[in-house]
Amino acid sequence: MLFEAARWAPSAFNNQPWRFIFADKKNKSELFDKIFDSLVPQNQVWAKNAPLLVVNIALKKYETKDSENPNAAFELGMAVGNLLGQATAMGLHARQMAGFSKEKLIQNLMLPEKYNPITVMAVGYRGKPKHLSENLKKMEPEFAERTRKPLIDLFIPN
Ligand SMILES: Cc1cc2nc3c(=O)[nH]c(=O)nc-3n(C[C@H](O)[C@H](O)[C@H](O)COP(=O)(O)O)c2cc1C
Repeated sequence: MLFEAARWAPSAFNNQPWRFIFADKKNKSELFDKIFDSLVPQNQVWAKNAPLLVVNIALKKYETKDSENPNAAFELGMAVGNLLGQATAMGLHARQMAGFSKEKLIQNLMLPEKYNPITVMAVGYRGKPKHLSENLKKMEPEFAERTRKPLIDLFIPN
């Protein structure tokens, strides 16, 4: 269901440059560990409890012509955005992580050159803040308000 939502994202020429590697800790623990190993320590602290890690990958080139796809990361983001909506509808929580070593991940997974891993995503049900360290606990919605820039700041006056 999660990946079905991602599948239906729009992309230029319908080129669909999103690819995923997913590892659930229970059935693919070796793969899970290889992905986990690439995360920065701050992410490892909490991501060790996630039941599922996903590598979100953009194809660098179009499959139909030998040229770079300048929109690949954007299109992957559209697909992941769809997936996040689906995850929320299913009561799941998914968090993106740019905090990982691309080099280590490529090495650990022996990823071919044509793939560009953009984020690693942890998916699961939200745990209880009481299981977190004090540092992490204070960032949870129960203790810190979620914030965004005011709407007006998103518009460039001209
Ligand atoms: C591309 C991207 C990379 C991110 N990287 C990390 C990360 O490495 N670690 C992390 O804990 N959160 C990461 N986040 C989550 C953001 O920190 C989070 O969305 C932001 O602080 C706002 O918090 P909220 O979405 O809970 O309101 C990332 C989000 C995106 C979209």
